[in-house]
Amino acid sequence: MASGQPMAPRPSPTSPSTPEAAEPVPLAVWPCAQTTGHAQRAGRYVAATTAHPAKMLPELARRITCEYAPPGALVVDPMCGIGTTLVEATGLGRRSVGVELEARWAELARRNLAVALPAERAVFAEVRTGDARRLPELLGDLAGTVDLVATSPPYACTPAMIDKAAWRQGGRLCRRDTENYSADRANLGHARGEAYLAEMASVYAACFHVLRPGGLLVTVTRNLRRQGRVFDLAAATVTLADQAGYQYLQHVIALLAAVRDSALFARPSFWQLYQTRRARDRGEPASLLVHEDVQVFQKPLVATATQRSRPATRRAAPQPRHRHRARSAAADSSQSTAVAGARLHAPRGGAR
Ligand SMILES: C[S@@+](CC[C@H](N)C(=O)[O-])C[C@H]1O[C@@H](n2cnc3c(N)ncnc32)[C@H](O)[C@@H]1O
Repeated sequence: MASGQPMAPRPSPTSPSTPEAAEPVPLAVWPCAQTTGHAQRAGRYVAATTAHPAKMLPELARRITCEYAPPGALVVDPMCGIGTTLVEATGLGRRSVGVELEARWAELARRNLAVALPAERAVFAEVRTGDARRLPELLGDLAGTVDLVATSPPYACTPAMIDKAAWRQGGRLCRRDTENYSADRANLGHARGEAYLAEMASVYAACFHVLRPGGLLVTVTRNLRRQGRVFDLAAATVTLADQAGYQYLQHVIALLAAVRDSALFARPSFWQLYQTRRARDRGEPASLLVHEDVQVFQKPLVATATQRSRPATRRAAPQPRHRHRARSAAADSSQSTAVAGARLHAPRGGAR
């Protein structure tokens, strides 16, 4: 892999990680869906990319890159799917390495890099097939040098590609071969509840190992409702990151809605609309969520004694320590998105 300029040291975090000093972190709102995901990828990503059921918006990947990785920085996505983070970061002059468990998605990521980037830039990006929990081995050559880990992990729900054509003819709505990303149980798309939290603890500990001191971990997650109850994944992510040794720096609301004059126009997926309507039919107070939570964590510049003795991968289910702070930023965002002076409009149609 080609090298570039190292990222400049960042200032110390403003949010200390002791419970006594817990305070809300800065909150920002980014509009990321002025155009649809389809329009954002058109002509740059191969058509087969649509088969992946949970892609990040290219605009969001670009914004994360510009905010948190200076030109030449090394960006890693340990669960890179079809490679959105890599395509956008490398296109913006960063170096990138992606890891993906599934050969199928890893191959699509390589093809997207080849299509989206000129050959002289594509050499700054690489995709490795493997398990994110084994990052210290997979990225052994890069240990301690990564400037930014940016990733959208599985969300402890069942992602699947929607096949409306088959559904209209009485077939299945979800394509079986894309459910939970694959049938492989090592894919964390299958993990739920405490098992999910324990596996994600391993992933964030593995990321900690490859980051340089002062390097950043940026997670993109979405809070979900199941049987009327919110699974506050944003808050859980704060707890997991804290337990892996990171300091929580910032919370961003990535708007999945277009901002038009004083109104927001939601851009939900067909699946979201379908699920929300079904929940309402069951009498559950479901509302359409039109944002994702982007959370920024920092590996401290100086490791504490506890961090130095921490193994690179941990499997114990995390116990919440920072309840107050985890909720302060994340719980607000689990409500329907509201931005001062803007009204939210759900689209009439069901399609994306
Ligand atoms: C939400 S998707 C990421 C999508 C990606 N940001 C993109 O735009 O394509 C999560 C990805 O994590 C992958 N994954 C699940 N378990 C994994 C593991 N143990 N190691 C590496 N990747 C894994 C899934 O196969 C899936 O592609």
